[in-house]
Amino acid sequence: MTEELFEQLNFVENPLFETIIDNLLAKQYSVVNNFFSSEEVAILRNSLIAKYEADRFKKSAIGSKTNEEIDKTVRGDFILWMDENSANAAEQIFFKRINELVQYLNKTCFLGILHKEFHYAVYPTGTFYKRHLDTFQNDDRRKLSIVCYLNEDNWLPENGGELTIYTETEAFNILPFPGRIVIFESQVLEHEVKVVKASERLSITGWLKTR
Ligand code: OGA
Ligand code: MN
Repeated sequence: MTEELFEQLNFVENPLFETIIDNLLAKQYSVVNNFFSSEEVAILRNSLIAKYEADRFKKSAIGSKTNEEIDKTVRGDFILWMDENSANAAEQIFFKRINELVQYLNKTCFLGILHKEFHYAVYPTGTFYKRHLDTFQNDDRRKLSIVCYLNEDNWLPENGGELTIYTETEAFNILPFPGRIVIFESQVLEHEVKVVKASERLSITGWLKTR
């Protein structure tokens, strides 16, 4: 049996991932609740908080990873890039699940995702990220943006910090509920993070990239 045929026979359809793909094809974004369980979210949140309290985060910038500029009138979050090669137990859970999704996308959609980059993010009360696209003049490799929310289970809509996605005709508000992930086409959909009115808004954001 050829390796290719074996791969095909070995392929197990994943209903959740199929839904994500259907959503992306239909509307260029997908919102999935409970992508991470509340136990997984708690572990990831603890990892984020430990690093935040150890002062590992820095003021976010605009521009690419290598061409940065800080502008608080555009975004006010604090970030820490994650390194898969030195991932702690929490981050290994995160990357395992993301890698399953990436493999599935590459196998079924021929997306050719070769790289990924993820960072933790903390939006203190009063901060926001103005309407933008996730692409830069010097880097058009970002294909899909993924945001995972790590807020406490009692996160309230009144806390603000909605992600607003703008399509050609509408604006959708997505609340940053824990365990929820949002995936969207980086080069197509403009979006913004509305001002956080109470509490700290915790997340992991990242990009799946082509060559
Ligand atoms: C970003 C971003 C959205 C969110 O970091 O580029 O748009 O909901 N984040 O945190
Ligand atoms: Mn963005």
